[in-house]
Amino acid sequence: MAIERVGIVGAGQMGNGIAHVFAVAGYDVLLTDVRQDALDRAVALIDRNLTRQVTRDLIDAGTKAAAMQRIVTTATLTDLGQTDLIIEAATERETIKQAIFEDLIPHLKPDTILTSNTSSISITRLASRTDRPERFMGFHFMNPVPIMQLVELIRGIATDESTFKTCEGVVARLGKTSTASEDFPAFIVNRILMPMINEAIYTLYEGVGSVQSIDTSLKLGANHPMGPLELADFIGLDTCLAIMNVLHDGLADTKYRPCPLLTKYVEAGWLGRKSQRGFYDYRGDVPVPTR
Ligand SMILES: NC(=O)c1ccc[n+]([C@@H]2O[C@H](COP(=O)([O-])OP(=O)(O)OC[C@H]3O[C@@H](n4cnc5c(N)ncnc54)[C@H](O)[C@@H]3O)[C@@H](O)[C@H]2O)c1
Repeated sequence: MAIERVGIVGAGQMGNGIAHVFAVAGYDVLLTDVRQDALDRAVALIDRNLTRQVTRDLIDAGTKAAAMQRIVTTATLTDLGQTDLIIEAATERETIKQAIFEDLIPHLKPDTILTSNTSSISITRLASRTDRPERFMGFHFMNPVPIMQLVELIRGIATDESTFKTCEGVVARLGKTSTASEDFPAFIVNRILMPMINEAIYTLYEGVGSVQSIDTSLKLGANHPMGPLELADFIGLDTCLAIMNVLHDGLADTKYRPCPLLTKYVEAGWLGRKSQRGFYDYRGDVPVPTR
């Protein structure tokens, strides 16, 4: 099926990046959020990020102008009814995602494909509560979306082959590379990445090293471009905790228990870069470790 109009639900860190790459690839984008300020911030950020791409000669000024014109925002979820593909990128909480799909479904075309950018929630379970489990799958972008090459495509147990192929075609048109994952907790990338981040937080919690020494150790000792705590702040500590909880509950193995220090940071509202404080404090000119 031909995909031309794409609806994106959630205009946070991921939603704005997803809107950006779809608009550059020539898709018409309808972006929604429950918060008008999130929509305004997303448009301003997309404009800034596209300008940066023009400055670096990655795209030309005409492409930027055309992309900005293709993005329309709305605070009304049901305006997305006439789109061909929905990518849900709202807060990582199952009840929120489920309510979004329930509200959307009566307004959708019968052949609209529904997808979720969830980092960890069961695609099969989300799909089973919709009217179209065969046209439902995981469409998992990496952060920051305009830069990261991978999209992890996740088949729910009922996802049909034509839905999967259509989404594979969309990823190719975005100029990105897809991998296929089966629908088990946290899929491939986060199944491997999050326990490493959680272990880095345990290493801090147990006093084995400071924020600085843990991040420097992994950057210089394992050749990682970012330290694990820096990366956790970048992803969002609430999202990291949600993923660890999904791994812990879904695989019933104590090796996945979230570090109490991660829980503590989330309880404090120190969610990383998006709230200006996490394992680092971002309110000054340079990030300062908070422990
Ligand atoms: N942050 C990452 O690195 C990353 C990477 C890959 C996937 N994801 C996934 O992407 C999704 C979004 O994560 P994020 O980091 O962008 O979170 P975020 O907190 O930056 O943004 C979430 C947005 O969803 C909006 N929202 C909440 N309820 C809504 C509703 N009912 N309708 C519409 N919008 C609603 C919020 O207002 C907010 O703007 C999550 O499922 C997360 O697991 C995140």
